[in-house]
Amino acid sequence: MSQFHVTRTLPEDATEAALRSDVQHGLTRTPKTLPPKWFYDAHGSELFEQITDLPEYYPTRAEREILLARAPEIAAAAGARTLVELGSGSSDKTRHLLDAMPDLHTYVPVDVSESALRQAGESLIAERPGLRVHALIADFTAALTLPDTPGPRLVAFLGGTIGNLLPVERAGFLASVRALMSPGDALLLGTDLVKDTSVLVAAYDDAAGVTAAFNKNVLAVVNRELGADFDLGAFEHVARWDTENEWIEMRLRSRSAQTVKIPAVDLAVDFAAGEELRTEVSAKFRENGVRGELAAAALKLTHWWTDQEARFALSLSVAR
Ligand code: AVJ
Repeated sequence: MSQFHVTRTLPEDATEAALRSDVQHGLTRTPKTLPPKWFYDAHGSELFEQITDLPEYYPTRAEREILLARAPEIAAAAGARTLVELGSGSSDKTRHLLDAMPDLHTYVPVDVSESALRQAGESLIAERPGLRVHALIADFTAALTLPDTPGPRLVAFLGGTIGNLLPVERAGFLASVRALMSPGDALLLGTDLVKDTSVLVAAYDDAAGVTAAFNKNVLAVVNRELGADFDLGAFEHVARWDTENEWIEMRLRSRSAQTVKIPAVDLAVDFAAGEELRTEVSAKFRENGVRGELAAAALKLTHWWTDQEARFALSLSVAR
């Protein structure tokens, strides 16, 4: 019998409170910042889907290539009866993995979007009678309580989204993931890799301007949710490679001196001409760095798979 459960651990009003707090703090500090999670309203999610089809944006295709080629190896190495996926979204790429896991008992997709979870969950159980799906509406950067399902567990965090966290946040995140795991459980982690700067910058500054629209969408979200009056045309999309930190930074550069009102947090924010607001960090990795960060969280890297062009990696690590 197929079963589909949804558990909400995120209060209905938590999102708005978190946005206010992020806007309040991020726009009153120097330099100004906004966290990338606010890109993803319905329009932003649609723009991200378009990004994944752009010729310049290789990570999604590279990761899919690895999953297609390696799903049986990943499944055999993990031997999991429960698959937990953090930030599951549409669960699109995960299907390759699910298809390679005949002994899977329960799939636990975790996402902040209830609509994405319901859509993905319902189509999955239709495709795979017998699979139990227990969806969690939760913010994967916060503490999670997993349903009581049979082990071993495989926790998957795909897409390279870990690169959106700063190094100190990554350490905290990996430690909290490790805390969800028992000895013998495994983590499947997607990481984009350091490569030629021109390739990296083009991936975040495409010719068609889709990434620019995605970047500016965060301003539209703040306008709608907090009554702000950002003029999207008054900002320019910037994507820059930070050599020292080995990350891409997306910024919005104010084309002129301007003041933006944000009534819901009672703010008037001044931008100087040319001032840049940081909206995203997307870190790129090397094998040794990933191994070290995992080890610091008591996870031992056991497998490292890349696509043919070594643009992207999936690593498997086990809880010690
Ligand atoms: C979905 C977080 C992996 O950092 O590459 C795409 C988001 N930002 N283009 C990334 C993104 C600009 C993406 N992740």
